[in-house]
Amino acid sequence: MSIIELKNVIKTYYTGSEKPVHALRGINLKVEAGESIAIQGVSGSGKSTLLNILGCLDALTEGEYYLDGEKVQFSNNRHIADIRNKKIGFVLQNFGLLNDRYVSDNIALPLLLGNMSKSKADKLAMEAAKSTGIEKLYGKKIKKLSGGERQRVAIARAIVTDPELILADEPTGSLDKATGEQVVEMLVKMTQSGKTVIIVTHDDSVAERCGRRLYIEDGLIREVI
Ligand SMILES: Nc1ncnc2c1ncn2[C@@H]1O[C@H](COP(=O)(O)OP(=O)(O)OP(=O)(O)O)[C@@H](O)[C@H]1O
Ligand SMILES: [Mg+2]
Repeated sequence: MSIIELKNVIKTYYTGSEKPVHALRGINLKVEAGESIAIQGVSGSGKSTLLNILGCLDALTEGEYYLDGEKVQFSNNRHIADIRNKKIGFVLQNFGLLNDRYVSDNIALPLLLGNMSKSKADKLAMEAAKSTGIEKLYGKKIKKLSGGERQRVAIARAIVTDPELILADEPTGSLDKATGEQVVEMLVKMTQSGKTVIIVTHDDSVAERCGRRLYIEDGLIREVI
């Protein structure tokens, strides 16, 4: 059974009086557990839209999304919140961290939102920090960290709930080449424990490290390598 199956997924943005934007025009995709996949394509082709739907951050307009064989019901808020908390780790473009808060708080946030006790959350957050090599930064505020360090915090936060699916939108976009490679290495390595990793990237050297590369063009998958 595939971890992800998309059947003819369409996403149309309706923005008031302007013309509707057909961001995804019929995506069909199957992903097996333990795969690493790069999503590539020019700006505006629909990469983030696709990733946001996979991460249940945004609803599809038409079509079907099966996660672990279960149909995702985008209109059921509790069901969606449950999937996001338990199954998915999302590394946002530009990190999405709380800059005035400590590294520890940022990593523990998804656990605390899931009503875990502070002490248990702190223990798991420290473990996630260790696995991304940032335990020394644990007591620092985000605003004092470099871009590469922030990206690691964002990854630690994405994996702290031990999700089976990890999604990252341009995780190396603001990093130098060497740091970017380390970050991708870290993400791809997570497939060794059976996790599925999907990375949006415009960088070919990042995509080359993934098991499969999908090219999106104008809302459709044009090519799979
Ligand atoms: N919230 C939104 N409302 C209206 N249109 C949107 C919205 N988000 C994205 N779009 C439009 O949908 C299309 C696909 O956008 P998307 O963000 O998925 O592209 P992308 O491939 O991630 O681009 P980039 O490489 O620049 O991040 C674009 O035409 C964009 O303008
Ligand atoms: Mg994008």
